[in-house]
Amino acid sequence: MMGSTSCHKLAGKVAIITGGATGIGACTAKLFVIHGAKVIVADVQDDLGLFLCKDMASENISYIHCDVTSDSDVKNLVDTIMSQYGRLDIIYSNARISGQYHMSILKSEINNFKRAIDVNLFGGFLCAKHAARAMVLTKKGVILFKCSVVSIVSGLSSHAYAASKFAINGLARNLYVDLGKYGIRVNCISPYAVATPLATKV
Ligand SMILES: NC(=O)c1ccc[n+]([C@@H]2O[C@H](COP(=O)([O-])OP(=O)(O)OC[C@H]3O[C@@H](n4cnc5c(N)ncnc54)[C@H](O)[C@@H]3O)[C@@H](O)[C@H]2O)c1
Repeated sequence: MMGSTSCHKLAGKVAIITGGATGIGACTAKLFVIHGAKVIVADVQDDLGLFLCKDMASENISYIHCDVTSDSDVKNLVDTIMSQYGRLDIIYSNARISGQYHMSILKSEINNFKRAIDVNLFGGFLCAKHAARAMVLTKKGVILFKCSVVSIVSGLSSHAYAASKFAINGLARNLYVDLGKYGIRVNCISPYAVATPLATKV
């Protein structure tokens, strides 16, 4: 499907994809490049992110190390793109961790729960906060959150993962009221199961 498309739906757009070094994020990065976007992959897996860029062999994809739980990392990511391109059209907040694989609260580890909320929810908040700062300048932009079917169907994942994805839905619903007046659209994408390398371990 990717190779057969010839229309450039994203021609000239500058897009960040967090968690883009592997899985759905990496596939999305490839598809965005094929559609003409300039893609910046932001992840903590530097080897995989750099390999993806090398493999694509395109000047329209690059990699920046960014831990989405770090305010300074996300700020640096957006600032670097603004100084390089002068604009940010799309941020796709896709990075995640699954948390513990089992579903029992009796076995849930406190630090594991906090870490999942940190990456999946707080990371999304930081991405929206810094992206919005750039997008209000051009009065347009798209903030996409990767949500999940687990936010509306019960009992499919760990409590930490389900809670973090449910909360992202709430954040997105509030943000689109806040940011609509600047021409910024905010949406969630909620897939069912996709057989990515990490998902198959669950
Ligand atoms: N795979 C599925 O079945 C499925 C279903 C529904 C929703 N989703 C959602 O889609 C998105 C992608 O899923 P996937 O299966 O490709 O995920 P994945 O686990 O394969 O990849 C996640 C990426 O996020 C990166 N990451 C983790 N912590 C990070 C951090 N602190 N800072 C920056 N990057 C970090 C990882 O290095 C990795 O590259 C996730 O948000 C996930 O919740 C996946």
